[in-house]
Amino acid sequence: MILTINRDRLLSEVEALASLSEAEAPAVTRVVFTPVDLQARAWIGALCKEAGLTLRHDAVGNTFARWQGQDPAAPAVATGSHIDAIPNAGKYDGVVGVLGGLEAIRALQQCGFRPKHSIELIIFTAEEPTRFGIGCLGSRLLSGTLSSHVAKNLKDKEGLTLDQVRHHAGFRSELERVTLPVGCYKAFIELHIEQGPLLEQQEIPLGVVTNIAAPASLRIAVEGSGGHAGGVLMPKRHDALCAAAEVILQVEGAARSSGAIDTVSTVGICEVFPGAVNSIPSRVNLSVDIRDTDLSRRDTAIRTVEESCRSISSRRQVSIAIDLQNADAPAECAPAVIEALSQSCRKHQLKFLPMVSRAYHDSLFMARIAPTAMLFIPCRHGYSHRPDEYAAPDDIARGTLVLAETLACLAS
Ligand code: HGY
Ligand code: MN
Ligand code: MN
Repeated sequence: MILTINRDRLLSEVEALASLSEAEAPAVTRVVFTPVDLQARAWIGALCKEAGLTLRHDAVGNTFARWQGQDPAAPAVATGSHIDAIPNAGKYDGVVGVLGGLEAIRALQQCGFRPKHSIELIIFTAEEPTRFGIGCLGSRLLSGTLSSHVAKNLKDKEGLTLDQVRHHAGFRSELERVTLPVGCYKAFIELHIEQGPLLEQQEIPLGVVTNIAAPASLRIAVEGSGGHAGGVLMPKRHDALCAAAEVILQVEGAARSSGAIDTVSTVGICEVFPGAVNSIPSRVNLSVDIRDTDLSRRDTAIRTVEESCRSISSRRQVSIAIDLQNADAPAECAPAVIEALSQSCRKHQLKFLPMVSRAYHDSLFMARIAPTAMLFIPCRHGYSHRPDEYAAPDDIARGTLVLAETLACLAS
């Protein structure tokens, strides 16, 4: 089987998808169920149909494009990722796994491969937490990790529920029917940029992911008493932003003092009310992201933040409410899928690095219902979630080739 990746077609599709964005190029913003996201979904759906794949959408908009195998009853081999992009992001995060997955299927079709097991490309809804505050919404529902009851009432900034938004986007069936049973897929593989610097630093073209770190996110609301910036003297103040500033440093400290380099914490959102230069902040909302490859260390970091909030609250006489959005277990990738990916790398004489994914992905949840692993390609300086995110054409094509090889091996 001589596999050839049509890299020009693949790269031009990456560029075309990047143009479906609400941000000025080179930045990409494509938030779930916004007009550009719906345009992108329609555009990719047409490409899948052109490739002879049969399309299915579930109630939350997860999209399944299937290449029917010779044994339709056998569990399919799946690949895929996401096309939503956080504000002011890059053009490769998620996209490489979706368009690379499609190109892998087309390359297998073109070289005359006939799969025994169907091969299915999955485009997951809302991998990013931007709109509904929780990441991997589509794959959480699909794996039964998030209840449809909780999901349907998730609200965006405008107060619209997931149900309202998905219905408006044309996805009207019941959320209860999104969940897929364990064993529904023989394997799941996600091709993705590393979103870290290791492959580039070590000049290794591919990473085979063995574990995915455990993510958690919290919302912390700090309530002070506000007041006039001139009239309230310092001893009488309960400034919510000064208290929040202490909380932010404690969030950072909880990771730095964990005893391991694998603990990371970030305060990515800080909303200040009323937001007037001459009014003492009365309320601050913080969104916090805490991760670690080790679950107990991640949970210790969360507890450290909770304890810090209690002491800041009593010392500054402000109220601090913590709302845990999600605290997920890490994932171990499946040895058989890791081996299949490793074999494909060896077959093409390509060096690869077994490694941990510090970013979370839909694979974190697919691993709960199917043997799962990920294939990483380098991204320049490890940059991601920023407009200068960049993956080289050779790396994208190489990752797609190894993905195609592995899909063929698992689907035979
Ligand atoms: O945040 C993450 O790890 C993923 O890129 N959404
Ligand atoms: Mn991302
Ligand atoms: Mn991603």
